[in-house]
Amino acid sequence: MTRIIGIVSGKGGAGKTTIASNLSYALTELGKDITTIDTNLTTPHLGLHLGFQLVPKSLHDFLRGDAKLQDVIYYHPFGFKIIPAGLSVSDLVGIDPDKLQDVTLNLIGKTDIIILDSAPSLGREATLSLKLADEILLVANPNLPSVLDVLKVANVAKKLNKNILGIVVNRVSKQNDLTSEQIEDIVKYPVIAEVPEDVDIQRALSARTAVIDYNYKSKASVEIRRLAHHLVGKKFNYNPGFWKRLVSAFK
Ligand SMILES: Nc1ncnc2c1ncn2[C@@H]1O[C@H](COP(=O)(O)OP(=O)(O)O)[C@@H](O)[C@H]1O
Ligand SMILES: [Mg+2]
Repeated sequence: MTRIIGIVSGKGGAGKTTIASNLSYALTELGKDITTIDTNLTTPHLGLHLGFQLVPKSLHDFLRGDAKLQDVIYYHPFGFKIIPAGLSVSDLVGIDPDKLQDVTLNLIGKTDIIILDSAPSLGREATLSLKLADEILLVANPNLPSVLDVLKVANVAKKLNKNILGIVVNRVSKQNDLTSEQIEDIVKYPVIAEVPEDVDIQRALSARTAVIDYNYKSKASVEIRRLAHHLVGKKFNYNPGFWKRLVSAFK
């Protein structure tokens, strides 16, 4: 069964694309066949995060009827598939966003997990990916506006009978406005990951790569890898090699 996971948030800039691109990496590492789609049609960034910013044919060409689906699926060197969206304003002309459903329908049975990197808020394109997803990952920053916006999105997802997997709190630091417990009290869903504020995430973006690739051991990388294990029901053993060496030193 192909799972379709929508990465959503209320506010823009919460970290959806960062989480989507790094989860693609981490879930591939766990042996899953992943296809990640940029469903943020007006302000797409997935390609920018993963070094696929300039592609001959994009999702927009498919949505306009100018390209076949197989022509807009790219194979990332990390081992997953990516469907990037077009970057220019002219890409928006003549597209039919409802054709996004043809993309997910076509991929069912051909990939293990489809990850939808969503547009923020509750406009047409964001609602479209909420509808296409079966499971929802809420991304919020630990401040009240971000959490209230995610609450709104969670309520819509609930009405659509979606399986809400939980909240990823992103950019956690000592200066936070809200704790994870407070966020759970407001949104009424569990916090399943706390991704720290991590300068390596911005460095990775400048290098057009995932932070897990940029610095495998950074705190953000470790937390997103832990989240990936959680999503597929696997136990996360941080640096098992280290523990094995330590234990054998005491034998
Ligand atoms: N945990 C983090 N630590 C530091 N910077 C982050 C973190 N998460 C995201 N960012 C930065 O915040 C910006 C917005 O992130 P992005 O993933 O594009 O958000 P969204 O897709 O929700 O709009 C990017 O510049 C990204 O590098
Ligand atoms: Mg984004």
